[in-house]
Amino acid sequence: MMKHIFTKVGRNDPCPCGSGQKYKKCCLEKTGDAPGKMKVEYAQKYGVRLKEPADIEKIRAAGRLVLEILDLVEEMIKPGLTTEEINSLVHEHTIKHNAVPAPLNYRGYPKSVCTSINEVICHGIPGDRVLKDGDIINVDVTPILDGYYADGSKTFFVGAPGPDAEKIVRVSHESLRIGMSMVKPGNTVGDIGWAIQQYAEGEGCSVVREFVGHGVGFGFHEPPQVPHFGRQGEGIVLVPGMVFTVEPMINLGKRELVILEDKWTAVTKDGSLSAQFEQTVVVAENGYESLTPFELKCVTTRRQNAH
Ligand code: MF3
Ligand code: CO
Ligand code: CO
Repeated sequence: MMKHIFTKVGRNDPCPCGSGQKYKKCCLEKTGDAPGKMKVEYAQKYGVRLKEPADIEKIRAAGRLVLEILDLVEEMIKPGLTTEEINSLVHEHTIKHNAVPAPLNYRGYPKSVCTSINEVICHGIPGDRVLKDGDIINVDVTPILDGYYADGSKTFFVGAPGPDAEKIVRVSHESLRIGMSMVKPGNTVGDIGWAIQQYAEGEGCSVVREFVGHGVGFGFHEPPQVPHFGRQGEGIVLVPGMVFTVEPMINLGKRELVILEDKWTAVTKDGSLSAQFEQTVVVAENGYESLTPFELKCVTTRRQNAH
């Protein structure tokens, strides 16, 4: 994708901006030691820890594991499967790669993955619930590999989806794509949320307020918060090296939620369907690079075997 932007440019190399001048006489002169200054400023002002190329490579590796696990999950999804079986697969595959499942024991969370079915917005705890034809299920995976975190999730169809399931999965999927398209230096965190809210509400859906995207990489949840709603130009300015998730939770009905007795499971108050897709992105010089880059062009319905 955009890996080239992180290769080191020497002072006497041609400037990456394409001017034909030497780097030191062109953009290096204009930015000075801006990257170093920016790092200190973002840490002090916002608690945001900008990532170096070496950090980004580690998060990218953790992100590859996220994608591998989500692919395995997708293959196994079918009516009759329990969420506990998804948890086992995620757990086993994570430790097989010498990684650690970040959810396990995180603030008392009891499992290695979140499995959120139908009206469950997020943080569904795996257990003996059985998937049935027509369900949708979000599976949210966060491995820690070599000390670095990457966070990603997808919503899958179980068997054949009805029209409501088709719609909410399409809108949440498109919400992530639109949100990510706003990620570039100079835009703000608010621009991301604004774009998502405009689109999702325009489709007659609603945006969850209580859970937001977040900085990620050195830890599970770092500053900044990345709301999936808001106003243009609001919030901090995006700069290269910022790594965070975009993970809009979109409801087919109203946005209000209820947390169940288990203190984790968030469900829609009106019982309507909710769906979510999540990627970890890094702000790059010219835009962004996804560190959990699954395809966001079309949602495919796979043919599944009956149980
Ligand atoms: N993966 C979720 C997120 O996107 C967080 C889950 S916290 C857990 O931020 F404890 F429920 F795993
Ligand atoms: Co997240
Ligand atoms: Co997640």
